[in-house]
Amino acid sequence: MKAVVFRGTDVPLEVTEVQLAAPRPHEVLVKIAAAGVCHSDLHVVKGEWSRRLPTVLGHEGSGTVVEVGPGVTSLQPGDHVVLSWVAPCGECRHCKAGVEARCEVAANVVGPTGGLNDGTSRLSIDGETAYHYLAVSSYAEYAVVPESGAIKVRDDAPLDLIALVGCAVATGVGAVRNTAQVEAGSTVVVIGCGGVGLSVVQGARLAGASRIVAIDLRQDKVDLALELGATDAIVGAGAGAEDAVRALLPDGVDYAFDAIGRTTTTETAIHLLGLGGTAVVVGIPPEGSSASFDPLLLVELDQRILGSNYGGIRPAVDIPQLVDLVMSGDLRLEEMVSARRPLAEAAAALDELATGAALRQLLIP
Ligand SMILES: NC(=O)c1ccc[n+]([C@@H]2O[C@H](COP(=O)([O-])OP(=O)(O)OC[C@H]3O[C@@H](n4cnc5c(N)ncnc54)[C@H](O)[C@@H]3O)[C@@H](O)[C@H]2O)c1
Ligand SMILES: [Zn+2]
Ligand SMILES: [Zn+2]
Repeated sequence: MKAVVFRGTDVPLEVTEVQLAAPRPHEVLVKIAAAGVCHSDLHVVKGEWSRRLPTVLGHEGSGTVVEVGPGVTSLQPGDHVVLSWVAPCGECRHCKAGVEARCEVAANVVGPTGGLNDGTSRLSIDGETAYHYLAVSSYAEYAVVPESGAIKVRDDAPLDLIALVGCAVATGVGAVRNTAQVEAGSTVVVIGCGGVGLSVVQGARLAGASRIVAIDLRQDKVDLALELGATDAIVGAGAGAEDAVRALLPDGVDYAFDAIGRTTTTETAIHLLGLGGTAVVVGIPPEGSSASFDPLLLVELDQRILGSNYGGIRPAVDIPQLVDLVMSGDLRLEEMVSARRPLAEAAAALDELATGAALRQLLIP
């Protein structure tokens, strides 16, 4: 099959022939309909996160099951699926407690090995082992994924578009609902209006937040945030943006979401909190970063700082529900897509994401 391979920061991305082995027990072969280009792919391409290389990029995707491995009971050929970059093992203590986004196999096996849930890879390039990205690797014509990472969804949903549910939407809406548990009437700030931030905005709208202040460096991004549910918009960053939020909400905010993940944006989220406020770190920095906060204020003002990995979702429960919200018009995804491009344009798509110009781009194999 054709796939997008990343070998290192000093080597141009290549779209090349990659061999994909048949699914093993409890794995399925999926024909990819679309892969979303997320900043978490860009972090890898910029060398900000270390991975085993070469790797086939992509962790947001959707497609159709074409073959099932031995023992697969929940899926059959023809099923429409959204790919989940956590494929819950079902056995670890976090899975058993229902906090599947914290699955130990995803954290301790899939991440470090670049394999599927058993730690081995189905990908190779002329005899050389290649690695999966988060057990998905959707920048490709096909993917072999764990059964629990291919989430069956309704057939009438637009299959390419709902790729976004697999990362941006699950992450952003999940951060609001599961991690922060934003209550109706709360005040919310969202820093960064990319695919993840706009999903936070939409999640906050669905949660009934009374004010949703969207911040981005780009006017077009905050304009879209206003269309998708933000009540106020600020173009800017750092102290200037903080002053602008304080002018709108002098007592500080109840929830501040960092949907970018730089030291400065995390600190801004903390600075904006009012009494009892919660900062939610959704955007992810390069490895080795650190941010600072004033512990005295944190205690006196009874505030919290939370990390949110994959929106704290249970993939098999949340992903079909999120697709239902797309179909009922409550979640708007088409507005979040700035382009549909062939796989061959993956490098250009990542470049465009890096400039901030692109929103979600779908790679269509
Ligand atoms: N926690 C998770 O599970 C999870 C899942 C997916 C993505 N992520 C992370 O979320 C982050 C966002 O991903 P994305 O795909 O939405 O990215 P994106 O590049 O589409 O969006 C980032 C947005 O931030 C804006 N921006 C950049 N610097 C800014 C600044 N200093 N102030 C204000 N706005 C600024 C850009 O204009 C852009 O609109 C990334 O770090 C990604 O790795 C985390
Ligand atoms: Zn992502
Ligand atoms: Zn588990």
